[in-house]
Amino acid sequence: MKKCVLVTGGAGYIGSHTTVELIGAGYDVIVVDDLSNSDASAVSNVEKITGTRIPFYRFDCNDTDKMRDLFDRHRVDAVIHFAAFKAVGESVEMPLKYYRNNLGSLTSVLTAMDEKGVPSIVFSSSATVYGQPDTLPATERTPLQKAGSPYGATKQMSEDIISSVACAPNAKIKAIALRYFNPIGAHPSALIGELPKGVPNNLVPFITQTAAGVRECLSVFGDDYDTPDGSALRDYIDVVDLAKAHVAAISRLVEGRGKAPFEYFNVGTGKPLSVLELIHAFEKVNGVRVNHKITGRRAGDIEKIWASTELAEKELGWHAERTIEQTLASAWAWEKHVRGIK
Ligand code: UFG
Repeated sequence: MKKCVLVTGGAGYIGSHTTVELIGAGYDVIVVDDLSNSDASAVSNVEKITGTRIPFYRFDCNDTDKMRDLFDRHRVDAVIHFAAFKAVGESVEMPLKYYRNNLGSLTSVLTAMDEKGVPSIVFSSSATVYGQPDTLPATERTPLQKAGSPYGATKQMSEDIISSVACAPNAKIKAIALRYFNPIGAHPSALIGELPKGVPNNLVPFITQTAAGVRECLSVFGDDYDTPDGSALRDYIDVVDLAKAHVAAISRLVEGRGKAPFEYFNVGTGKPLSVLELIHAFEKVNGVRVNHKITGRRAGDIEKIWASTELAEKELGWHAERTIEQTLASAWAWEKHVRGIK
């Protein structure tokens, strides 16, 4: 019988791409999303891509009764919990919004899973838990540093909560946290992608919107870092590759191949790229100009981080496959689709 995965935040950027890959791998998927930072059209576009009808529930995961009710109605084998707020700057201004929502929704989902006997969860974590590591690449044994923002703190605390739940005596739930580096790009169909509301905080949506003429000029935040060209280094991971890492994690859990009740893996490419290198690669592969200027550093940014991908390769049998050129072409194709540019 097909296994069924509940995807919370399944109308969002990473959730929608993961839903496509889960269906492609033979899973049934149910989506829950409150659409607070996403659009229902993402779910219908996933249906178009996969040719599959997806049961969709619109509610806030903090509503434990609704979650219990969903588990009563559907036999769910595993949950992937994406639903959370993710804007670093906003979390500094409105910390309670982040602690309430991100921790509340996680504990609500875990409570309902525990009561209804749903045994597996994959959690959407972030490389932000490492802060600026002393040594690179960051491995899963790299010590975590004090979070740089309330958003980052919610990711660290969420991992702690999940670990306590999974490692408790007589625990019924097993878990995997995936620590994402910088997810970018869009589905090759250009039917789903990142839909930031307002002015984008992240680099690639700002690049694509500048290339499309929506933004006048991209600011490069700092060229005086201790890096080869002075701009900051990150590990940019294609969202489709990232989605496939979730399928690998879910399979490990539902097939009982986990080596501990709570495991965590980096999801990156292992290849650092600078902000300027990324802009130039985007211009080259898409044949468009991205108007940009160097400005001062952005508060709270780290200088450099990239992943060690060894553990994910060894344990999940997963590694990133798409080239940065394919990824940046997909990001531009999506932006053109959204803007109706030929
Ligand atoms: N950048 C610019 N100009 C912009 C936007 C970003 O130069 O307009 C630079 C940033 O300074 C940084 C790099 O591009 O050096 C990447 O910035 P993003 O905002 O795209 O990504 P971050 O690495 O800052 O943040 C990401 C995720 C967060 C997560 C964080 C740490 O978006 O969710 O990594 O893991 F918390």
